[in-house]
Amino acid sequence: MKTTVAVTLFIGVCLLEKVTPLNILTIFPYQGKSHFFVFDPYLKELARRGHNVTVISYFPQKTPVENFTDISLAGKAKVLEEVFPLSRSYWTFIQISLFLFNFGAANCRTLLGDEQVQNLWKTKRKFDVIVVEQFNSDCSVGLAYQLGAPVVGITSHTLMPFHYDRFGIAYNPSYVPVQFFEGGTKPTFYQRIERTVVYIYINLMYKYLSQRNDENTLRQYFDNVPPLEDLANEIKFILLYQHFTLTGSSLYPANVKEVGGYHVAKPKALPDAIEKFIEESEHGVIYVSFGSMLKAVLTPKEKVEAIIGALSELPQRVIWKWEEKTLPGNPKNIYLSSWLPQNDILAHPKVLAFYSHAGMLSTTEAFYHGKPVVAMPIFGDQPSNAAAIEESGLGVMLDFSELTKETLLQKLKTVLDPEFRKKAKQISQVWHDRPMSPLDSAIYWTEYAARNSNFTFRSSSANVPMFQYLCLDVVLFFLAFILVILYVLKSVISILCSRPGKVDKRKNKRD
Ligand SMILES: *[C@@H]1O[C@H](CO)[C@@H](O)[C@H](O)[C@H]1NC(C)=O
Ligand SMILES: *[C@@H]1O[C@H](CO)[C@@H](O)[C@H](O)[C@H]1NC(C)=O
Ligand SMILES: *[C@@H]1O[C@H](CO)[C@@H](O)[C@H](O)[C@H]1NC(C)=O
Repeated sequence: MKTTVAVTLFIGVCLLEKVTPLNILTIFPYQGKSHFFVFDPYLKELARRGHNVTVISYFPQKTPVENFTDISLAGKAKVLEEVFPLSRSYWTFIQISLFLFNFGAANCRTLLGDEQVQNLWKTKRKFDVIVVEQFNSDCSVGLAYQLGAPVVGITSHTLMPFHYDRFGIAYNPSYVPVQFFEGGTKPTFYQRIERTVVYIYINLMYKYLSQRNDENTLRQYFDNVPPLEDLANEIKFILLYQHFTLTGSSLYPANVKEVGGYHVAKPKALPDAIEKFIEESEHGVIYVSFGSMLKAVLTPKEKVEAIIGALSELPQRVIWKWEEKTLPGNPKNIYLSSWLPQNDILAHPKVLAFYSHAGMLSTTEAFYHGKPVVAMPIFGDQPSNAAAIEESGLGVMLDFSELTKETLLQKLKTVLDPEFRKKAKQISQVWHDRPMSPLDSAIYWTEYAARNSNFTFRSSSANVPMFQYLCLDVVLFFLAFILVILYVLKSVISILCSRPGKVDKRKNKRD
């Protein structure tokens, strides 16, 4: 009897606690596959929990999921096969920044030009919350404003330079990295100058190019288009794809949430050939992948030879993601394939180390499985990820321009050291130790934004004028106060000093 009551009560409580299904719109106007790869599990989980999820993206579901409706932009723009120059310079950085903002403007035109997207506002669809990717454009924040729902931002990386202001986060070059550049949290003087200039340059470009372009596009469809920076200030929460064990403790307000790690799936069984290759290794395996960053045809021959040279000096076997079928010299200990189940390979206990380009997804997977990394950044946020890898103790960094057989061999030996591997395992355990799984947190704060949409959780620092933020008025007041005191003191002293003088003079006259 008692148990029946208890069970009934329990079920009652569960029913009460069951979240009310929300109408959620999510907007991913950028066609980078590696970005959407992160968001996919979050979107599916929202639908699995009974929310009605509508997803605007270039990547519609192959097998439809219940409560998940695609508004597909597929075919409207070429999916990015990122081919980037291997030698980094300020000039390539400027080219890449222009490329990024041009893409943002084109993505905005495609998004708003889509008939199904237009139907959302023409039929006055109502949403409880709108999730928008925060990357290279604020066009979708403008669209969300027209649909009249609270906005949650989501990223597949750390904060971009133009995201600091909107959340009232002080960008401080003395210890905060910018993507694209090295230095981590311990930059040299030169690196601090460099990141200050980059920060200002990117912000000016964003304000005067990207946001103004997107406003013009929005004006073709809507009469009332407020400045996008004002709308961006209203974003309720941002879900950042990072975690402090990797990127370090940051000074973030309460509406900036670190949810890095939710894309990593439970490892699956490996294909037989790979399983056999790993199992039969006497000294373990090194996994090598540069994502889609290093193209075999574009990589200088001497660099490929340096990698092969270093790898063949080691007793470990190697699994290498590479587009070509063979390598010069046909090294026996190397297994080549153009496609590999990276997460499942990294999960294998006999896989000892990872030689990587330090993309955020690869870095996250390495962290998850506690596998030490030799990080060789090529582009984008990889230099700052690589710095974080080195600082967190997960691995070491190798500059592509310094890649030789000797340097690589030395770095690989460092991370293969049992002590180093043990430390990587330990930091991975810390990474896993959280009050709530990253997927649960991401969903919790999304639902929270919908439930409490009448409130703002933005830090006041986002609203304070610059002179007040820097306390310039207060400093000025005290400076003036000190000056007045000094002036008064000086006057008093000069009066006191001059009196006896006059008396003396009179005395002299009498004499
Ligand atoms: C889909 O949504 C409906 C209505 O909210 C709900 O009853 C159903 O359980 C959901 N399906 C799944 C698989 O969650
Ligand atoms: C769920 O979303 C789809 C597609 O956006 C829409 O057609 C449907 O009416 C929505 N269902 C509910 C119960 O709101
Ligand atoms: C927000 O405020 C409006 C107006 O006061 C009210 O009608 C609405 O129910 C509130 N919404 C929530 C989610 O509390």
